[in-house]
Amino acid sequence: MDLIPAPSHVSGHGDDFFVLGPETRLAAGEGTELTERWLRSTLGAATGFPLAPGSVDNAIWLSVDPAVTEELGEEGYRLTILRETVDLVGGGPAGLFWGAQTLRQLLGPDAYRRAPLPGREWRLPVTRIEDSPRFAWRGLMLDVARHFMPKDGVLRYLDLLAAHKLNVFHFHLTDDQGWRIEIKRHPRLTEIGSWRARTKIGHRASPLWEEKPHGGYYTQDDIREIVAYAAERHITVVPEIDIPGHSQAAIAAYPELGNSDVIDTASLSVWDTWGISANVLAPTDTTLRFYEGVFEEVLDLFPSTFVHVGGDECLKGQWKRSPVAQARIKELGLADEEDLQSWFIRHFDNWLAARGRRLIGWDEILEGGLAPGAAVSSWRGYQGGITAARAGHDVVMCPEQQVYLDHRQHGGDDEPMPIGYVRTLEDVYRFDPVPPQLGPDEARHVLGAQANVWTEVMENHARVDYQTFPRLAAFAEAVWSRLPAPAERDFADFERRMTDHYRRLDALGVGYRPATGPLPWQRRPVPEGMAPGSLGRPIEGAPPNV
Ligand code: ACM
Repeated sequence: MDLIPAPSHVSGHGDDFFVLGPETRLAAGEGTELTERWLRSTLGAATGFPLAPGSVDNAIWLSVDPAVTEELGEEGYRLTILRETVDLVGGGPAGLFWGAQTLRQLLGPDAYRRAPLPGREWRLPVTRIEDSPRFAWRGLMLDVARHFMPKDGVLRYLDLLAAHKLNVFHFHLTDDQGWRIEIKRHPRLTEIGSWRARTKIGHRASPLWEEKPHGGYYTQDDIREIVAYAAERHITVVPEIDIPGHSQAAIAAYPELGNSDVIDTASLSVWDTWGISANVLAPTDTTLRFYEGVFEEVLDLFPSTFVHVGGDECLKGQWKRSPVAQARIKELGLADEEDLQSWFIRHFDNWLAARGRRLIGWDEILEGGLAPGAAVSSWRGYQGGITAARAGHDVVMCPEQQVYLDHRQHGGDDEPMPIGYVRTLEDVYRFDPVPPQLGPDEARHVLGAQANVWTEVMENHARVDYQTFPRLAAFAEAVWSRLPAPAERDFADFERRMTDHYRRLDALGVGYRPATGPLPWQRRPVPEGMAPGSLGRPIEGAPPNV
């Protein structure tokens, strides 16, 4: 019974089975509708069985029970499989749904197919499982700005998150290289900002370009569909509109948003290379009003309490040279450009709080002090998260040293796109969202963690799959299961359990990186300075990012 992520308690598995067949019914109680629908459509497709409603002995019983809520929380579940019947009880609708994911894993890899294969017998081992997640925020961030992922791919990723009991989809919708969400009052954001004429191939230092237009965006109806599809899977979509840096696509669409007193913003286009653009938003009232309009539409589309405003890597060169920015610094009595960035973020912190939402941003936003409800995505290691938690802010840990999945999985220089540092499957498996420096009261501010997938060198969904899997499976266990301290984790056991999990990923059609070690042609001596699996050790000459 090789479950991933590993459940908290399993008891009494013998060699007896419940057999799922054409007569098996789904007996669904109140509050179970989403899971009922999901099981009928998913297992129905894989098995060809109707899973018709009804309460007979040969049934899967679904219910939500306050006693389980009390014991295991809203996201916990208890799954009891007997010879005659299956009883799945959730602490809440979400817990029930995570229990259904366990049920599907127990049925075997073919339960992940979309049509039945001939001659299959569907058996569930007699057992009792009690399970609940360690963290409430178990996320994946997907960058759809650097390379657009058409809607179908996003829906597929939501299915993949659900299969791993992950419940937050952080949707990085805007960046220098593209604006991906329709904003009705500012149509040029997508008319102009969603396409670029060409794209740098590989590192920013690479001399090569792909001379092919790249782009695309989600209409507001696409977004509504994505948010609803996620909600049916108990996944919250957290939108990110990145300000005041990473904004060149927006400035290309609306030049008045840029620092037009120091550069000719009207001549800017959507950026076609990688790195951090110097073209940042102007700290003017025009910009604030424009983005308030953007966020108004964003709030209408996304019910998430948290709204991500980016806040990372805002270069200050233009503000230093801009008379308008300097006048603003003076007028507001600010010390410098760093303070100006804080003022910018605090404006939207207050604006969101006044509308009952909470701001979350990359850890740079800590630099100028935050409103009490604001939260931090700690990406430059753990330090931002530690500082934030000590100051009483909630934190989502996503240190690039362990859970940036754009970084390579092996030290071979022919690893497809050898960018960044080596972050192996084992590095991810040994990731712990709570660093030892935090005491219990501080650790309560760690809401959880997320893996981040930046797509500069992932031009299509096959490349995203390759970078994301199998490491997302290790990440899922690190945030769901109550694992021992990192050094004591049984990685060999995890790898053994992955044998079954690769078969599930195969059935789902995931283009994961094969196995955990070198690819066949990488099985040769590893050069000095390229130690595979050495956590966070730089590869000679490799930049930390593209
Ligand atoms: C980031 O990786 N710039 C948040």
